[in-house]
Amino acid sequence: MKNVIEIKHPLIQSHLAVLRDKNTPCDQFRAVIRRVSRLLTYEATVDLATRPIEVDTPICRTTGCALKQRIGLVPILRAGLGMVDSVLNLVPQAEVWHLGFYRDEETFKPVEYYKKFPEGDPVDVALVLDPMLATGGSALAALKAVYDWSVPIVKLISVIAAPEGIERVLSHYPNTRIYVGAIDEGLNENAYIVPGLGDAGDRIFNATA
Ligand code: PRP
Ligand code: URA
Repeated sequence: MKNVIEIKHPLIQSHLAVLRDKNTPCDQFRAVIRRVSRLLTYEATVDLATRPIEVDTPICRTTGCALKQRIGLVPILRAGLGMVDSVLNLVPQAEVWHLGFYRDEETFKPVEYYKKFPEGDPVDVALVLDPMLATGGSALAALKAVYDWSVPIVKLISVIAAPEGIERVLSHYPNTRIYVGAIDEGLNENAYIVPGLGDAGDRIFNATA
């Protein structure tokens, strides 16, 4: 599917098995989310623009490069927070703009409770971070905020996606590039991804109700 990049890297796949395991403890789950996020980000940033810069090494002057574009990370609270540190580690100059949504348990629709975006002056590239793309409702709400801010290049990074969510996102925002570690079978009656990994936010924050 155009604009969907499923990264079938053996490291990602082996980390995913740990995330899927219901017996994986919270501290390990959180650490592995970070590892997978780093690997996904490596792939999602492969086409960032650079500009040449002069660098003095201890030996001589040479030409290096610096990132040309302003980059914004847009984590969707809560679970997206679990991805931020590892992405910032790779792109330390990135800005971070938070969005808070929770899914209504009956309608599965996202409810916004936090939005921190500036007026105007959009970043050049936004990386929207959320480990789970299920019905796509939360991602769509986040993407609306990012496109309303007039960000020209938008990428969604998720650990696991359901086909339903991918199709929904691309039907509204076909230019969004979606980077995922796995595309699973689908959704169950509670709109959880199957086989999935359960509730990502609860498992990252050790807050299972
Ligand atoms: C989860 C997940 C996504 C959303 C995906 O968050 O982190 O944001 O569900 O589902 P969707 O594609 O059907 O919208 P949740 O609403 O459980 O909030 P949390 O991150 O605070 O746990
Ligand atoms: N949110 C999650 O955390 N997991 C799912 O499977 C679906 C939505």
